Amino acid sequence: MSTVLGALHEDHRNINQLLDLLARELDVVEDESNGNFELMRDIMTYMTRYPDHTHHPKDDLMFQRMRARGVVSATEDTIAALLREHGALAKKGEAFHDVLRRVVDGAMVERQELLAAGRDYVEFLRYHARLEEEAVFAEAEMLLGDADWPVIMQTFEAQADPVFGPTVDREFRALYQHIRNSAYLGARQEG
Ligand SMILES: [Fe+2]
Ligand SMILES: [Fe+2]
Repeated sequence: MSTVLGALHEDHRNINQLLDLLARELDVVEDESNGNFELMRDIMTYMTRYPDHTHHPKDDLMFQRMRARGVVSATEDTIAALLREHGALAKKGEAFHDVLRRVVDGAMVERQELLAAGRDYVEFLRYHARLEEEAVFAEAEMLLGDADWPVIMQTFEAQADPVFGPTVDREFRALYQHIRNSAYLGARQEG
């Protein structure tokens, strides 16, 4: 697998890990009318920062290069859908982030509104990342070569991931610690 595809896959893995955390917290909200709203807000601060502004643009750049090399029509249809989904994801992410910020600030928010926005976001982003991997990655690997990958890779190097990258942004320290603790607990439960 090319380095770029490996890095995109790694981003997806990180994103899925956060979506699992979100889904778990949404279940707590549903069952107990309570939940770790700060954690959910921090996850969505990250989602609207890194995936929306850095990961999806990398996807877009790869799709552009693939189009320039001539994709088969089925893949072209998928790429067109994925590009539309990036726009929709940014909107849904902002909306859910906004709901969470209001809850953390003490505003009254309907539980159903929060659950609907959260579940819609989690399912949509999971489906989207899976579609990229299953319907586009293999053709990208075939079509793109040494003239394409370094150009895409440069955008990775320019923008480090503020949670999973080499340094954790101050703003995300609580989230980072939570991820580490839940990974540790998950490993203990499996072992
Ligand atoms: Fe994407
Ligand atoms: Fe992606």
